[in-house]
Amino acid sequence: MLKFDPSPLQRLSHPAAEAARVEWWVKRDDCYGPGGTDVALQGNKVRKLRGYLEGWRDWSDPRLGILSFGGAYSNHLAALSVAGRRYGFRTIGIVRGESVSNPVLDLCRENGMDLRFVSRSEYRQKKQAEKLFAYRAEFGPVLIIPEGGSGPDSKIGTASIIPEIKTQLGPDHPIHYFQLAAGTGGTAAGVIEAPPGEANPTIEIFPVLKGGWMGEEIEKQLSVESKSHYAWQVIDGHHWGGYAKRPPELLEFCDSFSRNYDIPLESIYTGKLFYAVLQRIETGYYPPGSRLVTYHSGGIY
Ligand SMILES: Cc1ncc(COP(=O)(O)O)c(C=O)c1O
Repeated sequence: MLKFDPSPLQRLSHPAAEAARVEWWVKRDDCYGPGGTDVALQGNKVRKLRGYLEGWRDWSDPRLGILSFGGAYSNHLAALSVAGRRYGFRTIGIVRGESVSNPVLDLCRENGMDLRFVSRSEYRQKKQAEKLFAYRAEFGPVLIIPEGGSGPDSKIGTASIIPEIKTQLGPDHPIHYFQLAAGTGGTAAGVIEAPPGEANPTIEIFPVLKGGWMGEEIEKQLSVESKSHYAWQVIDGHHWGGYAKRPPELLEFCDSFSRNYDIPLESIYTGKLFYAVLQRIETGYYPPGSRLVTYHSGGIY
């Protein structure tokens, strides 16, 4: 019923990469999804949802639903609401903060998601057993997916990213560096969890929030044996002041990059990531001959 083809891997011919004599590739998960016209159903959100959707057998029972959590601009809740409408299951979104209207939440509403706005203190209880029990009592038989879609089953989809790229490049073209943006760290944890195989890249993780806690957060999400699968590092200092902060220079970069390379970037995740990678290429961080793959996690609709 669900079909997920590998997303394209695109070579970027960028003057900075040519000057630094590195190969720069982009894994286009903004094109990853079950297809069709649902533009919100793409990107790392679909990779994360995939394990939950495929693992959930009984699509025929209309009482069943999926409940999840997010902020007022949650791409995850938007994608979940679209999946619910498309595949015919109930969706419930627990949203941090006061009831507001914005394009993301309006999309959720249009897709029939039941939105519940909760105070920040209630939101912080989202992992507590009593709270989850209360949600089940209130909403009936729902599958509960953690915030941002980041849970054990989300790794089924995200762990397939690097193996997919290796197949696309072939054994003679190893990836040396793989870069991705991090919000909850769930996508990064899934990538690191993948069985390493041969010739592994160093994984560079760029948090889009400030705080310096991302490394610890990712560690928590990894199984003991996967911690040493890959060399990975968190590179802080590329958040532009914090989550969703977008100074004019960043917006201008997203615009010009999108126009020049026909790869749409938004300013919350992918804009910050590509800006940071470009900076590192320009300052000669990557040795000549390196092959870089930057992960485009989608988020545009
Ligand atoms: C487009 C996009 N890229 C990256 C991320 C970060 O992913 P994660 O929360 O798994 O770190 C998100 C969501 O949080 C996202 O919506």
